[in-house]
Amino acid sequence: MRIFLTGGAGYIGSHTLLEVLSHDHEVCVYDDFSNSAPEALARVSHLTNRSFDTVEGDILDRNGIKQALVDFRPDVVVHFAGKKAVGESMAEPLMYYRNNVDGTLSLLEGMNAAGCSRIVFSSSATVYGEPEYLPYDEAHPRAPTNPYGMTKYMVELILNDWCSANAQNTAVLLRYFNPVGAHDSGEIGEDPDDIPNNLMPFVSQVAVGRREKLQVFGDDYDTADGTGVRDYIHVVDLAKAHAAAIGYAETHYGCEAINVGAGQGSSVLEVVRAFEAASGQPVPYEVVARRSGDIAAFYADPAKAKNLLGWQTERGLADMCKSAWNWQRKNPQGYKG
Ligand code: NAD
Ligand code: UFG
Repeated sequence: MRIFLTGGAGYIGSHTLLEVLSHDHEVCVYDDFSNSAPEALARVSHLTNRSFDTVEGDILDRNGIKQALVDFRPDVVVHFAGKKAVGESMAEPLMYYRNNVDGTLSLLEGMNAAGCSRIVFSSSATVYGEPEYLPYDEAHPRAPTNPYGMTKYMVELILNDWCSANAQNTAVLLRYFNPVGAHDSGEIGEDPDDIPNNLMPFVSQVAVGRREKLQVFGDDYDTADGTGVRDYIHVVDLAKAHAAAIGYAETHYGCEAINVGAGQGSSVLEVVRAFEAASGQPVPYEVVARRSGDIAAFYADPAKAKNLLGWQTERGLADMCKSAWNWQRKNPQGYKG
């Protein structure tokens, strides 16, 4: 098949690119490199010994994205491109709505023009908001608590309407939980530009000596050890979920939301201990106040992914930490050095 990846140079995109190339698909990556490096694409090409098309472009460029789609004529689009920092979205909501929502409209108009009727979309567990019950299943009410989460929810609604308007259209909404880790080669991984917002890259940078200590945001939650609990998923498992979703989109119509998680949670302190064991390095930490807007615990009911996609996670927390450490150790400054 011909697969078009928006944001394919990013963290999850580059791992999915590697996975789809190993399935012999023809691929075009469309990315403006606003939060990624062309080096990631070079490394994937080297690892797979495969070439693929790359278009440097912005999804907000309506003519540019349309032309790229018309030229490539994809069977399926996987749509990763978007901004993803919760705090930044609260400071600059309009930028988030413009990039994530308007950008998706340009993409869908381009797909219509190119005769492409299938999309796999990077949604997020953040669409659920404060849990009414756990684990979250896909029917859990959607109530995002920040502009970033709202953009994901709005795009889900748009894709639902796009599918309702044409019985040939297909949208698979993958609601990711907490992707972490890296490819086993240590050649590609998560490379935050600034101070990491998320736990695992922060822990990795402490272990490698780039930062002095981790701040644990609260140890007074109603969880076993008082720290926040999340459903961490290995990025390679997540990449395989995309390959399965592409296969599903090929043979089904309509709009389907699917959780992509392991179905169990780990606390912040469990992650710290697992990382110390995997790396052999100490991860000093201090407990500080809760981070505003954080939820105590959430994790997925992953049954639908198993039923519809035949997919489930294969890699546990130890593997996630080991691969994150391997990437960090080999690339202490990320793709820059
Ligand atoms: P990332 O920032 O590493 O990748 C996003 C890619 O999109 C980057 O390569 C960036 O350069 C590109 N991009 C951004 N805006 C663009 C634009 N206007 N035009 C063209 N390219 C653009 O992020 P990621 O972690 O790989 O996340 C991928 C997707 O998954 C995002 O949509 C994100 O919201 C979603 N998601 C991520 C997580 C997570 O924890 N990483 C969790 C849930 C959902
Ligand atoms: N945490 C710390 N210290 C840090 C960073 C995080 O203690 O320096 C804690 C948080 O309080 C939380 C846990 O580690 O308990 C995980 O935090 P992350 O920031 O790694 O992940 P979140 O679940 O808060 O958010 C992530 C993405 C969101 C996405 C959400 C659901 O950042 O974009 O998962 O998919 F919406």
